[in-house]
Amino acid sequence: MAIILKAPPSSRSPLSSLVIILFICLPYFASSASSGYNDSHHGGNFLRCLYRQKQTGGPSISKLVYAPYNSTYSSVLDLSIQNLRFLTPETPKPLFIVTPVAVSQAQAAVRCSRKSGLQLRIRSGGHDFEGLSYQPISGNRPFVILDMLNLRRITVDVESATAWVESGATAGELYYRIAEKSNTLGFPNAAFLTVGVGGLFSGGGYGMMMRKYGLAADNIIDAQIIDSDGKLHDRKSMGEDLFWAIRGGGGNTFGVVVSWRIRLVPVPETVTVFTVLRTLEQNNTGLIHKWQYIAADHLPDELYMRVLMGSYNEAGGNRTLMSWFQALYLGRADDLLRTAATSFPELGLAREDCTEMSWVNSSLYFVRMAGQPLETLLNRSSNQKNYFKYKSDYVKEPIPGSTLEEMWRWMLRADQGELLLIFHPYGGRMSEISESAIPFPHRAGNLYKIEYITAWNNRSAEVEARRIGLMRRFYRFMAPYVSKSPRLAYANYRDLDLGTNKKSGNTSYHGASVWGRKYFNRNFDRLVKVKTAADPGNFFRNEQSIPPLTSW
Ligand SMILES: Cc1cc2nc3c(=O)[nH]c(=O)nc-3n(C[C@H](O)[C@H](O)[C@H](O)COP(=O)(O)OP(=O)(O)OC[C@H]3O[C@@H](n4cnc5c(N)ncnc54)[C@H](O)[C@@H]3O)c2cc1C
Ligand SMILES: *[C@@H]1O[C@H](CO)[C@@H](O)[C@H](O)[C@H]1NC(C)=O
Ligand SMILES: *[C@@H]1O[C@H](CO)[C@@H](O)[C@H](O)[C@H]1NC(C)=O
Ligand SMILES: *[C@@H]1O[C@H](CO)[C@@H](O)[C@H](O)[C@H]1NC(C)=O
Ligand SMILES: *[C@@H]1O[C@H](CO)[C@@H](O)[C@H](O)[C@H]1NC(C)=O
Ligand SMILES: *[C@@H]1O[C@H](CO)[C@@H](O)[C@H](O)[C@H]1NC(C)=O
Ligand SMILES: *[C@@H]1O[C@H](CO)[C@@H](O)[C@H](O)[C@H]1NC(C)=O
Ligand SMILES: *[C@@H]1O[C@H](CO)[C@@H](O)[C@H](O)[C@H]1NC(C)=O
Ligand SMILES: *[C@@H]1O[C@H](CO)[C@@H](O)[C@H](O)[C@H]1NC(C)=O
Repeated sequence: MAIILKAPPSSRSPLSSLVIILFICLPYFASSASSGYNDSHHGGNFLRCLYRQKQTGGPSISKLVYAPYNSTYSSVLDLSIQNLRFLTPETPKPLFIVTPVAVSQAQAAVRCSRKSGLQLRIRSGGHDFEGLSYQPISGNRPFVILDMLNLRRITVDVESATAWVESGATAGELYYRIAEKSNTLGFPNAAFLTVGVGGLFSGGGYGMMMRKYGLAADNIIDAQIIDSDGKLHDRKSMGEDLFWAIRGGGGNTFGVVVSWRIRLVPVPETVTVFTVLRTLEQNNTGLIHKWQYIAADHLPDELYMRVLMGSYNEAGGNRTLMSWFQALYLGRADDLLRTAATSFPELGLAREDCTEMSWVNSSLYFVRMAGQPLETLLNRSSNQKNYFKYKSDYVKEPIPGSTLEEMWRWMLRADQGELLLIFHPYGGRMSEISESAIPFPHRAGNLYKIEYITAWNNRSAEVEARRIGLMRRFYRFMAPYVSKSPRLAYANYRDLDLGTNKKSGNTSYHGASVWGRKYFNRNFDRLVKVKTAADPGNFFRNEQSIPPLTSW
């Protein structure tokens, strides 16, 4: 069993290959979709309808609609496409992209696309793993993208410790606007900065404060949503059922969320972060084995310690497995060191591993941008794009050491960067919130979530097939060690391998309960009921949106 390989001399941290992958610019050829639909007919109807809407000041809607004949169409379309797998000439293209600056314009886009028989895709940050916010996978009916990127105002009220956040804002902008007003308020926001809050909050939304304060969606107290008739609702007028459903039940299902009202949470002026590398030679198998027993249930809620791992080529051609223990501690380094020394002495955490900083600076630290100006948080293109596929699993019992070693063998057989894992600890506040409080069901009883990542920078069908094939086989291998019946998954880690709403022979939607129970478990049935009442005609839909009962 030759899995014990030498640690590299480590000049430049190979952690960088987790995130730093070359940006590849592809030629772009706009081609409008068609299949029995007359684009110019449906498109003409849509535009006529849109232009008829009452003007309410600000830029006129005609300046906010992009069609393939506009020279800026492809730059607007491509801007938010995060997964380069779906930035190809073959990817179906929208007839129009509407980028409202006023809520009334978003309402008009809903009304007019419905009236002219065009499918609508809603996009905020464009991070959907399967690209469902900007392309239809099944069939190529003409469609319109409602892109929320101009609707991204954030109003923070320190006195009440609340904020209104429009859907088009990114997690980074939210960090920035909170910190602008206060250094002792925060929000359990995504760890990744360019994610849009439209999709993020619609599927739950976790970050480095999840064990202390739960998910983003656990801290939403009001919302504004446009229904399929184009009407605008707040919490009161939408009712508690719909308000429950939109906090985690998935995007593009119940309506267009225009803005969220969130409850801000206290954060200390100084937090502590660390990232320590441990290799096979340094017994990372033993460390991870132990980590499983403490990370969720035996560390203070203030400490969120995740593990990132991958296998790397050494200079001499040998392979090794590296793991990084990375944490945010809501407190000072001295307290963290005391906690680590009693709960996890094997890690050998040292004072020089720890850095104290403000909470907002920690948001840059976790995307490896520590020390960059805070304005980086406002940059929607600060991340480097690549080709990727993700999956997720929930672990309820510690994985035996011998199985961990088998997992490492899988990873060592893979090429460098072909298979990366992140273990996200649960417990703390996550275990106190009931499984049915919001649609996100993964609460008490979960030790951690496994995030499977394969990311690459080579547009080659062969590379894609090999990598995704490997990930699927590894996922099958993991089945005995993770949640079962159903095998659960995080809704925001969209994975079409789990099933889609594609109609089967007798036009039923039985596929939905398969993927639906994995994402939402026992909350699935209530989501179907809410969907049936809120959007019986299934106007808001994609390949993995909750269907109304009427379409089963
Ligand atoms: C690099 C990367 C890092 C990530 N990091 C994290 C993380 O730290 N924490 C975490 O929880 N998740 C993370 N995710 C997953 C992320 O939460 C989901 O991909 C999320 O859906 C993205 O939201 P978006 O607005 O950027 O994406 P989009 O692709 O714009 O939207 C996602 C879905 O929501 C729908 N939608 C978007 N806006 C609205 C709206 N206003 N109203 C109704 N429906 C809408 C879309 O139609 C689509 O179905 C990450 C994803 C990526 C690619
Ligand atoms: C498509 O619609 C346009 C505008 O309504 C019309 O002029 C054209 O003849 C139609 N084309 C076909 C093939 O039906
Ligand atoms: C796209 O082109 C049309 C027709 O020339 C024009 O009216 C519209 O304003 C253009 N859209 C944008 C966003 O420039
Ligand atoms: C590795 O770590 C585990 C758990 O901390 C411990 O039981 C084991 O003895 C360690 N093995 C070696 C070789 O240090
Ligand atoms: C690679 O591993 C083998 C076996 O452990 C070892 O003998 C060799 O020195 C290593 N090569 C390098 C360049 O580290
Ligand atoms: C935060 O980061 C900025 C640079 O981005 C730095 O100037 C500042 O000193 C840091 N502050 C704290 C408290 O960490
Ligand atoms: C945003 O980040 C990207 C990538 O680092 C960079 O190329 C671009 O110049 C930045 N934009 C701004 C406005 O700073
Ligand atoms: C991309 O992958 C193909 C097939 O494996 C390979 O032949 C080619 O060299 C790769 N290109 C780059 C730039 O890595
Ligand atoms: C057709 O629908 C029924 C339920 O309405 C289901 O039991 C059956 O399996 C479906 N058949 C096919 C081929 O999908």
